[in-house]
Amino acid sequence: MPNFAYINNKFVNFKNAKIHIEDRGFQFADSVYEVIAVLENNLIDLDFHLKRLSYSLSELQIKFNFNKKNLKKIFLDLLKKNKTSNGIIYLQITRGIQYRDHKYEKNLVPSLIIYTRKKIFNLPGKKFKGVNTITHEDLRWKRRDIKTVNLLPNIIAANKAKKMKAYEAILLHNGKVTEGTSSNIWIIKKNILITHPANSDILKGVTRTSLMKIIKKTSLKLIEKRFSVEQLLNADEVFLTSSGSFITPILKINKKKINNGKIGNITLKLAVMYSKSFMNG
Ligand code: PDD
Repeated sequence: MPNFAYINNKFVNFKNAKIHIEDRGFQFADSVYEVIAVLENNLIDLDFHLKRLSYSLSELQIKFNFNKKNLKKIFLDLLKKNKTSNGIIYLQITRGIQYRDHKYEKNLVPSLIIYTRKKIFNLPGKKFKGVNTITHEDLRWKRRDIKTVNLLPNIIAANKAKKMKAYEAILLHNGKVTEGTSSNIWIIKKNILITHPANSDILKGVTRTSLMKIIKKTSLKLIEKRFSVEQLLNADEVFLTSSGSFITPILKINKKKINNGKIGNITLKLAVMYSKSFMNG
């Protein structure tokens, strides 16, 4: 358990960190969040995370102005206090506290919650792992581009995966792959990478954005288009991306092996390039 959290304007003992029972984040999931990876004290893709945070806040009209420099200082201080140099920063902003009413008042004061967790990441090297997955119906709302804590459909699918001893559930809408419960999904067929376009059907992952920048520097071709469950199952390689899992190879889907159950060459190459990109600054 970490020692400290940051709530509103102060560092507090993690055990005593509390929010109000009428906080709209608690009652209505009226709240946005970010999960930022920290590797050897580097805040990975921080700018992309803060840009998406601003987008989520503005789409929900939660009025919370933040200063990047101040926020970064809070992150670094908290990591230091919690003696964490590898892990994640969890940040959540709720619309604030109000007498329970679906309709919100204009001038609420948003609640800010930040804490850290230690984590060992799956990075290319001797212990680089691929994972099993299942497919599951995508039960979510139509604004998946906003990173809200409205995650019950993701939780249902993720726990179905857990029950099946799988790492992630790949979500399907009308036979097409949207994304994972907490990741974006990529397939490779005949050296061409395909991932779902960044529209309101998926979360525009920060790892996804970062990887796209890397792919542009290679000779690999990337197409952003929807793909079917058949394309998924018949792909040469499949992998997922997220701030918690970086680039993680998918070796099995519903018990069907992908690439004979082995990590594919292109996936490995991209995982190496991605991890090098933040190791070098
Ligand atoms: N989830 N899609 C969904 C639905 C997600 O929840 C996430 C991240 C992603 C990948 O986004 P990014 O590369 O920015 O992490 C895609 C975080 C890690 C979580 O909920 O823990």
